[in-house]
Amino acid sequence: MNITLRNFEPEDFDTLYEIDQACYEPEVAYSKRELRAYLRFSGSDCLVAEAEKQIAGFCISARREESGYIVTIDVLPQFRREHVGTKLLDEIERRLGANGVREVALETATDNDSAVAFWTKHGYRNRGIKKDYYPGGRDAFAMSKTLPL
Ligand SMILES: CC(C)(COP(=O)(O)OP(=O)(O)OC[C@H]1O[C@@H](n2cnc3c(N)ncnc32)[C@H](O)[C@@H]1OP(=O)(O)O)[C@@H](O)C(=O)NCCC(=O)NCCS
Repeated sequence: MNITLRNFEPEDFDTLYEIDQACYEPEVAYSKRELRAYLRFSGSDCLVAEAEKQIAGFCISARREESGYIVTIDVLPQFRREHVGTKLLDEIERRLGANGVREVALETATDNDSAVAFWTKHGYRNRGIKKDYYPGGRDAFAMSKTLPL
């Protein structure tokens, strides 16, 4: 599959919102207000992946000094296991590293097996559990990775 990456454009907003709704349970998916806030956050970056002439996924990161954070990575179900997520993450990490970030952190639900497998495959390690982290009471793994110099 031919996957191309590009920067987020304001007209993508509704599509990204719909993708997020398709990727998470209703109580966990972002509201439009939350999604807008993450996109406007100082130091945030949003990368969009296109495949077959549509947006297949996106990734939002944030950074402050040497610390980076993956806000979310969402790939539509029909485009999964085609390395869309990997392409997004590789480029988001490259950009974070180019901006001086050394350590990247994220949270993921402890029962989200595909996400845990994805993060582990990409070198993220479990640093502990955050109890009741998600609305609805699900726990999260706090994961992080040191970027290579
Ligand atoms: C997690 C997610 C972003 C992965 O995206 P993806 O494009 O399917 O991932 P990739 O194809 O790049 O996968 C890379 C590797 O991760 C691992 N992996 C990904 N999904 C997996 C799954 N369902 N089961 C086991 N391993 C998996 C594999 O090692 C895979 O490599 P391989 O296919 O060559 O074996 C996607 O499943 C998703 O959007 N899920 C819903 C939203 C979500 O949970 N986001 C993360 C929460 S923080």
